[in-house]
Amino acid sequence: MNLAIVGSGYVGLVTGACFAEVGHQVICVDNDLKKVHSLQDGHIPIYEPGLEELVKKNVAAGRLSFTASIGDAVAVSKVIFIAVPTPPQPDGSVDLSFVEGVAREIAVHIKEEYRIVVDKSTVPVKTGEKVAQTISRYNPGADIDVVSNPEFLREGSAVEDLMKPDRIVVGVSSNRAVGPMKEIYTPFNAPIMITDLNSAELIKHASNSFLSLKISYINAVAAICEASGANIERVADGMGADKRIGRAFLNAGIGYGGSCFPKDISAFIRISEELGYDFRLLKEVETINRDQKERFLKKIREALWVLRHKKIGVLGLAFKGNTDDVRSSVAIAVIQQLVAEGAEVRAYDPKAMDKARSLVPEVKMVAQAEDVADGADALLVLTEWTEFKSLPWLAIKKRMLSPLLFDGRNLLNPDEMRSLGFTYTSVGR
Ligand SMILES: NC(=O)c1ccc[n+]([C@@H]2O[C@H](COP(=O)([O-])OP(=O)(O)OC[C@H]3O[C@@H](n4cnc5c(N)ncnc54)[C@H](O)[C@@H]3O)[C@@H](O)[C@H]2O)c1
Repeated sequence: MNLAIVGSGYVGLVTGACFAEVGHQVICVDNDLKKVHSLQDGHIPIYEPGLEELVKKNVAAGRLSFTASIGDAVAVSKVIFIAVPTPPQPDGSVDLSFVEGVAREIAVHIKEEYRIVVDKSTVPVKTGEKVAQTISRYNPGADIDVVSNPEFLREGSAVEDLMKPDRIVVGVSSNRAVGPMKEIYTPFNAPIMITDLNSAELIKHASNSFLSLKISYINAVAAICEASGANIERVADGMGADKRIGRAFLNAGIGYGGSCFPKDISAFIRISEELGYDFRLLKEVETINRDQKERFLKKIREALWVLRHKKIGVLGLAFKGNTDDVRSSVAIAVIQQLVAEGAEVRAYDPKAMDKARSLVPEVKMVAQAEDVADGADALLVLTEWTEFKSLPWLAIKKRMLSPLLFDGRNLLNPDEMRSLGFTYTSVGR
């Protein structure tokens, strides 16, 4: 089927490449001309395992192309996906101006043929209704259906998640859209759940908020572990072995970050408020998440006493492992606080240094992980990159001024690190 994806970022580009991979004809649109030109030249603007190969293969096969023109894409595509940003506003609500702007642009380009406009961006419940009204207002004759098809990919394994999804949620307001949506997704061999528009939108916000809740829950339990001498990993294993609970998202650390969880949970709180429900449970999830970062910083301050002029080495800048995304990364927030208190920070990340530079201009980025240790008073692990586990830790310790190691992601083995001579601190163990 001929498909257009408006917005060629983490979601749009990966979705476009995966749709092309299963045989659809896909045009990815973006209003960032630089991005479009670089994609046309074969450069992939984000790091995502497997993406570069997939894009190249499908461009070469003639199934995937890039343009800055929504008009060109709408003219030939039966289904148009919207995958533009939905960033937070200062009050926690969602800035829907990107979605609204794209809806208006799509509207003016729709001619007499039937079109399906699919919202893939994460949006508050009732946005689909607004998108349909907007298109009808700017093009009263447009023959369209609006569909909500939230995306559940995880950065770092986005290609795999898209190719092998747990489920595909399709919210419709008319049965006419069901057939084409099933045709698009049948090659992915996953359950397709057809719902109404509002339920599909709620499924996304409710899911991301629930995952954030799991993280804050285990972080709260980690605080009890620290106070009681229990080990959070044993506790999480014991809890997670229960199928009703599950082990995923029960890893204690310095809290969740990234471009989705923080904004989606505050959007869900906000839309709930507008609908007359005070979602106190989720407000507490946010508070625990903020506290978690503070609790980590407190451990560093307690150990180092004074931060001014202390040399601190940092491993990890991305909001999680396997991605170069630093949007709302807790690692960046921790570094910014350390710098504000006068510490001198050196940092390394396998993929995210370029994107982090402008957020922490005071930080010296180094070419090798081990180099963060030179003359350091303390070393922090802030992102769970697997490769950090196998660093030459003894050699690293020898390069440090004092062997303080703070593992904010519980990535390393405490016994091993202590036997190497580190004063090792992690979260809840
Ligand atoms: N990143 C994730 O892991 C993830 C997962 C699931 C859902 N989502 C949701 O998907 C949406 C997109 O997220 P993302 O991470 O891909 O964002 P992104 O910032 O990586 O990409 C968005 C793209 O849209 C483009 N864009 C903005 N306005 C445009 C316009 N008017 N016309 C054409 N292109 C335009 C931008 O230039 C950018 O390339 C958000 O609602 C997000 O919450 C993200």
